[in-house]
Amino acid sequence: MPTRSVLVTGSSRGLGLEFAVALARAGDQVIATVRNTAKISERLRGSGVRVESLDAADPASIHTLAEKINSGPGLDLLINNAGVIGQDPTVDALSFDEFRRVFDTNVFGPAVMTRALLPALRKGKSRAVWNISSELGSIAESTPGFSYAYSASKSALNMVTARLAKDLAPDGFTVVSFCPGWNKTDMGGAQAPLDPADSIAKLIATGNRLTAADSGRYMRIDGSTIPW
Ligand SMILES: NC(=O)c1ccc[n+]([C@@H]2O[C@H](COP(=O)([O-])OP(=O)(O)OC[C@H]3O[C@@H](n4cnc5c(N)ncnc54)[C@H](OP(=O)(O)O)[C@@H]3O)[C@@H](O)[C@H]2O)c1
Repeated sequence: MPTRSVLVTGSSRGLGLEFAVALARAGDQVIATVRNTAKISERLRGSGVRVESLDAADPASIHTLAEKINSGPGLDLLINNAGVIGQDPTVDALSFDEFRRVFDTNVFGPAVMTRALLPALRKGKSRAVWNISSELGSIAESTPGFSYAYSASKSALNMVTARLAKDLAPDGFTVVSFCPGWNKTDMGGAQAPLDPADSIAKLIATGNRLTAADSGRYMRIDGSTIPW
């Protein structure tokens, strides 16, 4: 596969860090974004990626980064990975504040990031956007016991994927939602069954095989379809 330019959000730790390290190892030119550039891990620093600052919940931060990236040679793949979980697993815990906090990062962030980076993506070769969703966003399989705001945010992100896929189809874009599976990260917890490095390797292998015909799909790391 020829060298691509790839931007990954939320690369300070967890799955975003695995994306950055794995893609750089495979020869891609990776722009890894973190919220706090003063606290970059040794692993990220040593991986040879370019690190940029981004708070995906802050429109001004998105705008500043997009200006830099859009003035460059082009971007082949945007991975909207940054995400937060909510603290509202029961109906009694529902609140405006929690919904706003979670939607800012999980929905508004990826939607506006994609729009802001369209000039760079249009200059790129593969025109791909991978939105990191979750099976908890599946309405068909709606699972009790998890954060309302989180599940609703991933359902909303899936709609963003479906809309972008249709609107950007004439330009040959491939926009998909991936569930990475339940992984051992700060978000997934120590009891999670999956190893982040394994999951991200599988997700990347599946993502690399996608074509524009797959645009608008919602899938697991093995490429199997998740019901909306
Ligand atoms: N782990 C799982 O089992 C699992 C399952 C399904 C889906 N997912 C999805 O996979 C993605 C990554 O999850 P993870 O498990 O790696 O989570 P994690 O370990 O909690 O890491 C989250 C990452 O997102 C960043 N982030 C949070 N808010 C941000 C913001 N406003 N702007 C920019 N970066 C922000 C964090 O940066 P800081 O270090 O600055 O906080 C961190 O790098 C998320 O979208 C999540 O919903 C995870």
